[in-house]
Amino acid sequence: MSGKLASDYAAWKKLQQIYGSEKDKLVLKNLFAADPSRFSRFSKEYVSTSNPANTFLLDYSKNLITQPILDVLLDLAREAGVEEFRDKMFSGEHINTSEDRAVLHVALRNFDEWTIGEAGVSEVTPVLKHIQEFTDAVRSGAWKGYTGKTINTIVNIGIGGSDLGPVMVTEALRPYAKRDLAAHFVSNIDGTHLAETLRECDPERTLFIIASKTFTTQETITNAESAREWFLAAAGDKAHVAKHFVALSTNEKAVTAFGISKDNMFGFWDWVGGRYSLWSAIGLSIALVIGFDKFEELLKGAHDMDKHFRQTKLEDNLPVLMAVIGLWYNDFYGAQTHALLPYDQYLHKFADYFQQGDMESNGKFVTKGGQRVNYQTGPIIWGAAGTNGQHSFYQLLHQGTKLVPTDFLAPATTHNPIRNSLHHRILLSNFFAQPEALAFGKTEEQVRKEVGPNASEALVKSKVFEGNRPSNSIIFPLLTPATLGSLIALYEHKIFTQGVIWGINSFDQMGVELGKVLAKNILAQLGKPEDVKGHDSSTTGLIHYYQKYRKE
Ligand code: F6P
Repeated sequence: MSGKLASDYAAWKKLQQIYGSEKDKLVLKNLFAADPSRFSRFSKEYVSTSNPANTFLLDYSKNLITQPILDVLLDLAREAGVEEFRDKMFSGEHINTSEDRAVLHVALRNFDEWTIGEAGVSEVTPVLKHIQEFTDAVRSGAWKGYTGKTINTIVNIGIGGSDLGPVMVTEALRPYAKRDLAAHFVSNIDGTHLAETLRECDPERTLFIIASKTFTTQETITNAESAREWFLAAAGDKAHVAKHFVALSTNEKAVTAFGISKDNMFGFWDWVGGRYSLWSAIGLSIALVIGFDKFEELLKGAHDMDKHFRQTKLEDNLPVLMAVIGLWYNDFYGAQTHALLPYDQYLHKFADYFQQGDMESNGKFVTKGGQRVNYQTGPIIWGAAGTNGQHSFYQLLHQGTKLVPTDFLAPATTHNPIRNSLHHRILLSNFFAQPEALAFGKTEEQVRKEVGPNASEALVKSKVFEGNRPSNSIIFPLLTPATLGSLIALYEHKIFTQGVIWGINSFDQMGVELGKVLAKNILAQLGKPEDVKGHDSSTTGLIHYYQKYRKE
């Protein structure tokens, strides 16, 4: 496969032809009318092999596909070597070629003790044990701060993958949280983020978790140093740092240089990508909030989805189906974005999380072989929890000029059944209605009947919904740690599959480097206007304006 662009594949060419000749016939209203079994044909129930309560239904019938189109999309996956690459990932081959690394986040949740790559489970188990002991000690109150008081607040300091996963999961699993343990997440270098958080912390009862794979990230190290300064202003003696600072990192040398003892470090490995790291020691804050047992259920849920992805033929493979359907819009319909729309307040950070998960993975314009692609790669991921989005951006989804493929997600049962689940019934009525409205719209004829003969033509036209806007719906019984684990892994493997088809390396992130380097150079020049050198007139002008008005 290497050396080939996705557009060179026979299946890609066939899809181009099909798109040209069939696209006008792909009308959801007609497709549903013509095939009464469309829903059963294009929906699948996932049931975890180890935990039957962990199940969900994926309905992909409201997509602009037919069985023959889906067959060719799956041929494309086969031709691109998705099965081979999947096996390479699980066997620990260095599929992250630019960094010469294995991609083994799946080994972090490997409860079947498959032999996964060189990592196996041997390195993972002791760290999990350390996480268990530590979280038990903090949660039970056995771990004491420097004045002998228990910990009532944790502050995770990290950014990107060292922040977004823990934030998203602790929010999603709040029903399982230890309510008397406050959890804060500081990521932004903007001092406001740390300052506002510290206002809510008592140095005697706060535990800082410094989460950084590399332990060199400017934002995280600066925030960590400032947090330590704040802590020492109260505690005085540096020896007290050991009770209040722990590190999650692959870089033992930098951790100890920072002043955190090896005993308070939770390690992981270069084969864990930052945006795939919530399953590793980076998940410590999750385990602190929901307890180790629930953290383990999350990992098991992900592992069960790994098994599904690894063992299921492509036709029934849910991540693969979602990947190829997404690619159909991205590369043939010219859709630029993909919206994630969870109808569950607990999942309000889901889209933020997969913004990094997807866009840092697949936002690449060269293939692994260094060729510039001549097609679109990763979509722009965005979204918000329903029903809030309905009162802001759904107007564009229904009547705008852009095609926005969407995923709707919802639990059948709520953790908060207030007023006999009235809220939840209203929420879910919207979850069912929105994909229906997007798909089937409202014709001019229907509008005319509604508005009567005296309505202006302009009013009639403005009330038409063209419909034919595609969506997936995912519904599950209840948002549990296991179900969340499976859903996250579902999207991880979707992203993987798309990356393989596009021929790109989904596991590096070279695109974040340039800005970092320029910022370092600029930081050294911010002192005096005469130091500002080597920039274009716009950048120079902006820096001079800042220098004129700043107050420090
Ligand atoms: O944004 C680039 C990046 O390297 C992400 O991939 C990563 O999740 C984040 O920075 C944080 O990196 P670290 O965990 O090394 O501080």
